[in-house]
This record gives sequence, structure tokens and C-alpha cells, in this order.
Amino acid sequence: MSKVLEVGKITTTAVMSMKAEGEKIAMLTAYDSSFARIADSAGIEILLVGDSVGMVFSGQPNTLSVTLEQMIYHTSAVSRGAKHALVVADMPFMTYQINPEEALRNAGRLVQEAGAEAVKIEGGRAMADTVRKIVGAGIPVMGHIGLTPQSIHTLGGFRVQGRGAEAADTLTADALALQEAGAFALVLEGIPASLGQRISRELRIPTIGIGAGPDCDGQVLVMHDLLGLFDDFTPKFVKQYAQLGEQVAEAFRQYRTEVKQAVFPQPEHCFKG
Ligand code: KIV
Repeated sequence: MSKVLEVGKITTTAVMSMKAEGEKIAMLTAYDSSFARIADSAGIEILLVGDSVGMVFSGQPNTLSVTLEQMIYHTSAVSRGAKHALVVADMPFMTYQINPEEALRNAGRLVQEAGAEAVKIEGGRAMADTVRKIVGAGIPVMGHIGLTPQSIHTLGGFRVQGRGAEAADTLTADALALQEAGAFALVLEGIPASLGQRISRELRIPTIGIGAGPDCDGQVLVMHDLLGLFDDFTPKFVKQYAQLGEQVAEAFRQYRTEVKQAVFPQPEHCFKG
């Protein structure tokens, strides 16, 4: 049982207290209501409606084509399934980079139309004014630095970031700037474990790692990776807790066979006249 959280809706304040209490935070992506309900009942504290939806749900090669309308659709489905978990919605590419005013308008839509309780944006110091603007309007913001998938074309692909002293200093300064701007938590993606530890120690706000080592204040995984439902590629940091892809394929094969052999449906599946 959580040391910090009472039964009820998990808030950003509760998430911040977990760091103070030394309780690790479990975050997971979700894109629909049924899986959100299952994750919520398993006690996952934060459900992230990630723009990874573009890859694992829509089959795109990256997250760049995801739209605000798509995020509103998926976030409202997840919000309906989440009784306790904090629902955080990713702001998709080009919905917050133009200027802070436009970012606030779009963040507002995720809250008002979809039920998001916080939004996540990628980027370091360059995003500080945007974070300040959104937080100033009463919408909590989670930052995201390191391997930021919306910048794959400038990063040269899905590559580990923050290697070497200079890059590590830059990312640490980015983390501190986002904290100062009012972010309530920070995702650290694809960085050396030693840097994950350094940033987590320097910040008051919790860090949530994905490929950032064990010393982050929490961890996040993409649900389809964790369940073994997405095998286009499996990054080093993924642990598969189930191989649902294989089980689902077997169920589909069995169903097909039974239809072909007229074994399904049986009398118990039929209505009486
Ligand atoms: O889109 C996403 O799923 C994410 C997580 C990997 C942190 O941003």
C-alpha cells in the first residue's frame, strides 16, 4: 500500500510528495478506456496518454504526425477509465512550439475537452516560458528532456543523449530551468544512468525515467512494450512483463479454426426462439 496516497484521485501534489517520502512512482502509457481501467485498478499512479499512440496504435514510424484532435480523442477515453490515476496528456508536435499563448490554448483544450489533469511537453530551457505560461493558467506541466522523440530529426534518430560532461551539464541545466518554470515532474528519456541519478538528486520535483536508470524517482514504460504487443523494435530499456502478442495470435488462430470447423458457436452461444 502506498505510504503517501490515500484512496481517491491522485493529484500532482501527491505525486510530488512521493518524492519527498522516497516512494517510487509508477507511470504507464494508456490510449483507451479499457486498458486505462485495468492499469488504474492495478494501482498505477500516473497514466500518460503519450504521443507514442502514433506508433503503437496508428502504426506510424514516429510521433510527429500525431494531432491535437487525436490526443483529445484518446485522452478523453483514458480519463473515463481512470478513477484514481493522474491523467497526463502529451502535447503533440507543433501544438506548443510556436508561442506560449498558442501552447496555453491547446493545453486548455486537452483539459477542457478531454479531461487531462496535466500536460507533458518536450524540451529544455527553450520551453521554460511556455511552461510558465501554462502553469500560470492553472494547468500542471510535466517536462520531458533527453531523448525527445519529437526532435528525432535534429537528434539524428532515437539515440541516447547526455553522454559526456558538457552534454550532461546542459541537460542538468535544462532540468533545473524547467523546475524553476514550475513543472511538477520531469521525464528523463534515454540518458546514462549516472546522469539520471545526478538530475534526480539535484531536483526537488520528481523525475520519471525511461532508459534513465534506477535512481529516478519513478519509471514509465509504453504499455504495448510492457505487454509484448509491439515488436517492431524493442529498446534496451524495455522489460516485457507479458507476451500478450503471442497469446492474442493464438486466440485468433483458435477462433479461426473453430469457425472453419463449425465448432463455434455452440448451443450456449445461441438465442432460443
Ligand atoms: O509518448 C510517450 O509514450 C512518452 C513516454 C515514452 C515518456 O513520451
